[in-house]
Amino acid sequence: MTEVIPAPARLRRDPAGRRTEIGRDTVLRAGPGTEGVARWLRATVGAATGLPFPESGGGACRIELGIESGLPDEGYRLTAGGGTVGLAGGSAAGVFRGAQTLRQLLGPDAFRRAPVRPDRVWEVPEITVEDAPRFRWRGLMLDVARHFMPKEGVLRYLDLMAAHKLNVFHFHLTDDQGWRIEIERYPELAGIASWRPRTKFGHRSSPLWDEKPHGGCYTRDDIREIVAYAAERHITVVPEIDVPGHAQAAVAARPELGNTDAVDTRAVSVWDDWGISPNVLAPTDAALRFCEGVLEEVLELFPSEFVHIGGDECPTDQWRRSATARARARELGLADVDGLRSWFTGHLGRWLTVRGRRPIGWDEILDGALPEGTAVCAWRGHARGAAAARAGHDVVMCPEQHVYLDHRQAPGEDEPVPVGFVRTLEDVYRFEPVPAGLTGEAAGRVLGTQANLWTEVLEDSARVDYQAFPRLAAFAEVAWSTLPAPAERDFAGFERRMAVHYRRLDALGVAYRPPSGPRPWQRRPGVPGRPLPGPPPDR
Ligand code: ACM
Repeated sequence: MTEVIPAPARLRRDPAGRRTEIGRDTVLRAGPGTEGVARWLRATVGAATGLPFPESGGGACRIELGIESGLPDEGYRLTAGGGTVGLAGGSAAGVFRGAQTLRQLLGPDAFRRAPVRPDRVWEVPEITVEDAPRFRWRGLMLDVARHFMPKEGVLRYLDLMAAHKLNVFHFHLTDDQGWRIEIERYPELAGIASWRPRTKFGHRSSPLWDEKPHGGCYTRDDIREIVAYAAERHITVVPEIDVPGHAQAAVAARPELGNTDAVDTRAVSVWDDWGISPNVLAPTDAALRFCEGVLEEVLELFPSEFVHIGGDECPTDQWRRSATARARARELGLADVDGLRSWFTGHLGRWLTVRGRRPIGWDEILDGALPEGTAVCAWRGHARGAAAARAGHDVVMCPEQHVYLDHRQAPGEDEPVPVGFVRTLEDVYRFEPVPAGLTGEAAGRVLGTQANLWTEVLEDSARVDYQAFPRLAAFAEVAWSTLPAPAERDFAGFERRMAVHYRRLDALGVAYRPPSGPRPWQRRPGVPGRPLPGPPPDR
């Protein structure tokens, strides 16, 4: 089982094909700083194999974990042979990444939660693996606002990320259709903004609604648990509070924060449709104080360096119709109300910077002045990423043309609610995060890359699985491994390794899209006959 995904930098197998047996008396010794990895191995591989992995004893095989300062931070060296499995990492995170490789080498059944063949022999091929990631930001964004994912599902996704050596969980917690984080000082967010009365069924253009209320909200302790669970897996959780647009749910709970002189915001409810809502926050001091109050609690709960403040897709129609907004734009010397978007996010960016955090936002925030240290999620194309990097900002590349995994994986009417344009497994495998022509210091600004999963039509974990997999495995390889240029990548080789990886995903209970197309229960018609669009231009 040397079909490791993501592909390691170097892997050498014993030419004689020898194997090291792992058994009941196999000792697992954790050097200083690696105790958490040993705990994780006992909890996962221990559960799957039924082996106890004692800390000491005279067994025929030993697994030795240790930190070795000469190795790259998240890098590791795994050697198996002569009765010893040695796993050294540049840090505990490096040892943890190597532990993922070790689990893969044990075979797909190592991904189960209990042994299925109690008498089986467990073996690791005699091997040397030397490995380190290409990018330091290997992210997955999950939108839990359009459809709430109960906490257990989020923890499961953190496990799936860990298995693919991903290390940043971008938690899209708020949007027009729901607010998903309890804020103690504003109980109406959990009370009102986290529930919508009904949900648009299928495409944006669908005439159908599912008439049952939908919602949910993580408590502060849920969030603490998610953050701690992620940290045990060396995953950073970056929270997103999306403002000033995508904020209709907040306006429904706090009508005074909307554009009260343009519309009757008391009539606004949590949105039951898809698209971009016109109900945005007003550019007022009250709205800024509200956001600061939210962020104060967010900072208490999330230790991450970066905090995401959204900034995308904020229509300004209501601001145009609001005397208050127009007066604010005049007072700030702005040419028109459009400039209020980046004024709003710029204010919150400075507020975060003063508190020792780094703001990050969608690439629209580039339209205005940004505090030093602000990073940009380039979603509208490579060109935005290149512009941000050349302007001296760190960039996370997540262009919709390549890594929006909610988009359909094949043409035809069989894809369940086939949104967007076709992005196949091979398309994702051939995605190059660093924009062409970006070199030197500017190229160094690319922190990494992130796949985004928007959930308008992903109503449960099975639908999220279907859209995410197998493409997230290809994405993980793009983010972790140093691959050749897109056209030269060995996709056939990747598919061969995927044949084994599907068995790991089966053991994990992932409802991926099979290579032959959706299983009957995974099909769900969208709107028949809807024309298939192409990807939007790189903007
Ligand atoms: C986005 O897709 N609106 C970031």
